[in-house]
Amino acid sequence: MLIKLWNGQEIPVEMHKARMVQKISLSPAEDRLRAMGEAGYNTFLLKTKDIFLDMLTDSGVNAMSDNQFAALMNADDAYAGSMTFYEFADAVKDVMGYQHVMNVHQGRAAEHLLSKVFSKPGGVIITNYHFTTTRAHIELTGASVCLELFADEALKTKSTHPFKGNMDLDKVRAAIKKYGKDKIGYIRMEATTNLLGGQPFSMENLKAVRKVCDENGLLLVLDGSLIAENAFLIWKREKGYENKTIAQIIKDMCGLADLFYMSGRKNTCVRGGFIATNNRALFEQLEPWLPVYEGFFTYGGMSLREIGAMTVGLREMADPGMAGCAIEQIKYMVETLDRLGIPVVTPAGGLACHIDARKFLPHMPKEQYIAGALTAALYLTSGVRAMERGTISTDRAKDGTEMYADLELTRIALPRRVYSMSHINYIIDRLLWLQKNRELIKGLKFVSEPPVLRFFLGKLTDLDGWGRKLTDAFKKDFGASW
Ligand code: F0G
Repeated sequence: MLIKLWNGQEIPVEMHKARMVQKISLSPAEDRLRAMGEAGYNTFLLKTKDIFLDMLTDSGVNAMSDNQFAALMNADDAYAGSMTFYEFADAVKDVMGYQHVMNVHQGRAAEHLLSKVFSKPGGVIITNYHFTTTRAHIELTGASVCLELFADEALKTKSTHPFKGNMDLDKVRAAIKKYGKDKIGYIRMEATTNLLGGQPFSMENLKAVRKVCDENGLLLVLDGSLIAENAFLIWKREKGYENKTIAQIIKDMCGLADLFYMSGRKNTCVRGGFIATNNRALFEQLEPWLPVYEGFFTYGGMSLREIGAMTVGLREMADPGMAGCAIEQIKYMVETLDRLGIPVVTPAGGLACHIDARKFLPHMPKEQYIAGALTAALYLTSGVRAMERGTISTDRAKDGTEMYADLELTRIALPRRVYSMSHINYIIDRLLWLQKNRELIKGLKFVSEPPVLRFFLGKLTDLDGWGRKLTDAFKKDFGASW
């Protein structure tokens, strides 16, 4: 919760206390240089023993509550007919209002099933913005175009627009006219658009998308992987919602979608996912594929212990102390960095603090993977593992042409209830040092590049050995043991 100090400053204060901890350590700069080289300048390939603050993602790495741990122990581990699944289905009805639900092992498994059943070969999927795994599944099922119809404001990293995740309705209408509604598999809204810097859409916009779907007989799919944060930001920013609860806002959002899916690894703090709907006919189209790709319908590829913890997580996620815990840390971090002249994505959104790498490294050509280089440099100077969200995260076109990303972002994710203010202040300090020494950062070049989702396993090298030069400059200022 944001608490106002006597001097007027607002700081995020945690609405929980830690009763179990995990030891971490900061390895010295020389060790980090070695580790980064071994990882091919790809932070995905680092080992956690070499990482101080792991801010790669908020997925599957959040702190579970005491009641969630209790649920792990109480779960009913039957292969079929588990009561833990039926308790989960009850929570989905209560929290989201959906009558039908199936678990899947994680969010992308839901994307796989939805793409398999609802994509039309040679057709189009319309979305406010793609996510990496979403686009891969859409393209793998042969829907040739994943149309991202966001408003132009979304690509302005410095902005005060409260809802940069909104769909541009004029563009949607024009696309329906151009392609014909029969070619459109579905319209997908992603709650707090991950790759646009965790930016939310407004309820007004979601209602308008619903209206277009109704007018044209199109399905509305809601990716609610970050629904609690989007609801929290509607509560804080949208007129008319300030007196609603986050729980009501979540239910209202869900009520507008034909099909809902989420990765439960974020908001519910476990490892799994699910698809839900009130439309029995749609559910029945998906259902036969569940045991083929995931598992029997009362576990869907998840451990039932995790389903038990997910039930608790679903019921807890709308608590303002939970829905807002990462958002308020992100807000503090973004606003402090912005004030200090570090180019960040504004306004602060969900998921992470995003650095605009193009502005941070204005000297770097786009061919040299700007955000990848900044992400590696941040690790070298701090032991903080962030994630590249730019051109490396965008696969090449089928003919091998490089597809330059709309944005080059270094994403510093804030797992829920894991890190403290002193950790955040430490990162802010190292970013300031890095900005002062940014001329030392040069580009990256692939040495091995997988054909799909290359950011996971691709290996790169630092051009002109800049990693060594940056490390030497760091040691000069801080000494060898940091
Ligand atoms: N949709 C959104 C909006 C996501 O952010 C993610 C995952 C997925 C779908 C896929 O879910 O990982 O459970 O298969 N985002 C993670 C991240 C990977 O780090 O942002 P998943």
